Order: sequence, then C-alpha cells, then structure tokens
Amino acid sequence: MEKPTKNIRYDKAAEALYIIDQTLLPGQEREIRLETLEQMYDAIKLLRVRGAPAIGICAAYCLYVLARGIETPDAAAFEQTLEKYAGELNGSRPTAVNLSWAIRVMLETARAHRQEPREALLEALYQKAVEIQQEDIAMCRAISEYGLSLLKEGDGVLTHCNAGPLATSRYGTAQGPFLLAAERGMKLRVFSDETRPLLQGARLTSYELQRGGVDVTLICDNMASIVMKNGWVQACFVGCDRVAANGDTANKIGTSGVAILAKHYGIPFYVLGPTSTIDLGCPDGEHIPIELRDPEEIKTLWYKTPMALPEVKCYNPAFDVTDHTLITAIVTEKGIVRPPFREGLAALAER
Ligand code: MRU
Repeated sequence: MEKPTKNIRYDKAAEALYIIDQTLLPGQEREIRLETLEQMYDAIKLLRVRGAPAIGICAAYCLYVLARGIETPDAAAFEQTLEKYAGELNGSRPTAVNLSWAIRVMLETARAHRQEPREALLEALYQKAVEIQQEDIAMCRAISEYGLSLLKEGDGVLTHCNAGPLATSRYGTAQGPFLLAAERGMKLRVFSDETRPLLQGARLTSYELQRGGVDVTLICDNMASIVMKNGWVQACFVGCDRVAANGDTANKIGTSGVAILAKHYGIPFYVLGPTSTIDLGCPDGEHIPIELRDPEEIKTLWYKTPMALPEVKCYNPAFDVTDHTLITAIVTEKGIVRPPFREGLAALAER
C-alpha cells in the first residue's frame, strides 16, 4: 500500500473517510476507515485522530458520513437524528473547542439546507467539511508566516506536544513555522518535549520535524529547564486547545510549566492557533473543562512492561491552563495579538 500522506482524507469516489491512525506512529503509518459512529467516537477518544483543529475537521467529515446513512425522507426526523449523532460525537473529548465549533457549523449547514432534496443537502454538508479542511490549510499557512516572523536565523525554539500537520491539516500551528523555515533554508534548532504522559512530542513532533528536514532534538519534559538555562532556547512555541476571552490558554498537560520556566529565564512564550480555537464565550481558564484520561495511559500504555503497580492511584489530566500573564503573544491567522488579550482577542473576532 502506498504510504498515506494526509491525516484525514475523504475519498469521494469510494464515499469513504480515512484517517492516519496516530496511535501507531512513528512505527507504522497506517490508514483506517471510519464508517460507524462508534468507530468515529473511539477514533477521537482514543487519539487515533488528535490535535484540536484535526479533531474538528474529522468531526465535520464524520457528520457528513453519518448524514449519508440517515434513511428517513422526513426532514425533521433527519435533523433530529443528525443532532443526536452530533451530540454523541461532541462528548468524545471536552477541552478542544474546535470539536464543538465544527459540529455546530455542520448542524447549521444542515438547517440552512433543510428544504432541499436529500442529495443537495448531503452535497452541502460535504462541501462544508471540505471547506473547513481547506480553510485550516490556509489558516495554518498564515499562522506559520506570522510565527516565523518572530524568529531569526539560528534561533533555538522549544515546543510542547504536537501541533504539526498531523494535528491540523498542513504545516500545523506551533510547528508550522519550523517546517516553513526548513522549506526556505532557514536554520532553526527545535527542542521537542517528549510530552508525558502520552508522548505526542516523541512519537509525532520529532517524527514530523525530522521528516520535514528540521534540526530537532528530543528531550524529556523535565529537561526543559536545563536547555533554557544553557541559553539554547530563544522562544517557546506551543499550540492551543481553547483560548479563553482573557487569553488563558488550555494546551497539552505540562504547557503551563514550560511557560513558568520561560518566564523565569526571560524567554518569550508564544501560543499559536487558529481563531476557531478562541472561545470568547469562555471568560477565563477556570471555565475550561479539563479532560481526565485513563490511568492506564500512565501505568502501562506505550511501555513494554508496566511502569507502576497496578493498584497505584493516578491523576491523569490531559491538559492544563497557562495563565495569560505568562503569554507573550497569541499568534493567529489574522495576526499577532499582544496583551491586553481581552481587548485584542475581541478586536480580532470583529475582523
Ligand atoms: O491530546 P491531544 O494530543 O489532542 O492534545 C493536543 C494539543 O494539546 C495540541 O498542542 C493542540 O491541540 C494544538 S494542535 C494544533
């Protein structure tokens, strides 16, 4: 089989939705097909597809596939069933706002076309999913350009978790500037936290950057301080799962620790993400729901032998919130927002 190149791919001729199963990377690059609601829910929940924008894109295609399977000729019954599926899909992961955003956009599209014949309605849903994916490509490109404008030749940058092409569509957000720099022959030195407990940095970021020709060095999360102290880091670039109205930002667990270290060492700390990740309805970080995950991810997953006693208690939050006071700027496809964030983010939404 030819190696898959796109993390989320809808084959219109075959009417089939495929994702690269990210839990198998970097060992295996394998596509899996998503056909049922259960497979879709599990794919998001179990991180076969993950990263805030990618989850949104995937959910949009999932709703299209599910809509195709709704047989009723009754428009109200169709809508009700689609809403039920949407609600279930939305329950798969709570923190990344892109999931509920994409689901809302798809439901609004279904409502806007409710009077039309079934095939026209389905085509509108398909086109909307394609549009969400295409727009993400454009947004990532713009974010990458803005992000790169903050760096200079030879800079060292530390990143946490995976916010590259696998987590988005192309380029990525926080990792996009590194890939763009490599394309242009600009030299950067990237430090990728392995990102405990799920190791997205080791399994995905270092894999994507290495393949993209970026000088990447993998470190354990508890090594961030020493590389900063050594003077090897001129900026931190991280992605985001939800940015509250005041700029507080949820991202993969451990991000807030990186921000605190960066402040200590006087290193600028940048959050990069599309405006679909900004949730102006959420006043601050206290209101961002934090996903708690299965303790087995800490105790056994990714290890050949268990790393802890089976009966030991575990606390496994997937995300933490970085206080807005620790963030130097938020980089979006519409531009770079600096403090005060409440005013800056609100102005951005108006644009
Ligand atoms: O649990 P994950 O792997 O979905 O968490 C991902 C992150 O925290 C990313 O940094 C974030 O979603 C931004 S992806 C462009």
